Amino acid sequence: MKLPDNAQVWFNGALVPWARATVHVATHALHYATSVFEGLRGYRTPRGTALVQLDAHVRRLVDSCRINELPLRWSAAQIRDAILETVRANAFGACYVRPLVYRGCGALGVDPTNSPVEMAVIVIEHGAHFGAEAYERGIAMGVSSWRRIAPDTLPALAKASANYLNSMHILLEARGNGFDDGIALDHEGYVSEGSGANLFLVSRGRLFTPSLGSSILEGVTRACVLELAAQQGLEVRQERIPREMLYLADEVFITGTAAEVTPVRAIDRRTVGSGSRGPLTQRLQSAYLEIVTGKAPDTRGWLTHV
Ligand SMILES: Cc1ncc(COP(=O)(O)O)c(C=O)c1O
Repeated sequence: MKLPDNAQVWFNGALVPWARATVHVATHALHYATSVFEGLRGYRTPRGTALVQLDAHVRRLVDSCRINELPLRWSAAQIRDAILETVRANAFGACYVRPLVYRGCGALGVDPTNSPVEMAVIVIEHGAHFGAEAYERGIAMGVSSWRRIAPDTLPALAKASANYLNSMHILLEARGNGFDDGIALDHEGYVSEGSGANLFLVSRGRLFTPSLGSSILEGVTRACVLELAAQQGLEVRQERIPREMLYLADEVFITGTAAEVTPVRAIDRRTVGSGSRGPLTQRLQSAYLEIVTGKAPDTRGWLTHV
């Protein structure tokens, strides 16, 4: 990763140069994935950089810590301030922010109790996740042979590093098969989510998305799209989705901080709908992008200006 020499990382309470934000090889999280994180985007707006849904991301980070027994030394308000301080210190414009909480260096055994809980905030420059053409053309996805983590193996509602080993397999398998990304089914075979994004489909004018019971991460962008859909008078169903609904759908799109609202043009080499970005996808995508880039008024309080 190439960053400017003066890039700053917030590291356990203070800003330090990028090169000095390092950990020991005995760090508990390196051995046992005892870490959780967040991913937020900052967009360039006419009023300068604005972070999207800062409070929702801080809340989910705190919740992830509670779920995975990482007692935090910092309050939600202090985490919020740390994120803003790091974004200001790096002055990137459009950026991606990665707060990370992890068990540091203590004991080498699985028991995390004697390993301190540490925190860092990293900021990098960031543009379109799937490339600029994907906003309109969409991406090709494949249903993965890897299932999403079952509810009695690892908690999916925590944005935990451990869960991303599952995501990594889904993504690498999909790329190896020539797709842009994979779609995981849950442990019972219903549609769950992408390797790093939630999934929606449109069928006969109604919007469907898997419910929290399908081992999804409760996406912040998913919540934004649900708000926009309600505002546009669309009927939305959060429920179990059988795989074949993907093949019959008129439109499919994925949502995520990185993925934003990205149309899906094909699944398992079958064309989705007409094969181009569908009208509902386009409406929700442009409504989302216009708000986060400050082109439409932020009537819902999604943005925090840096
Ligand atoms: C597995 C997974 N699901 C869903 C999402 C979407 O979440 P959000 O919209 O909060 O970025 C992400 C993105 O971080 C993810 O990694």
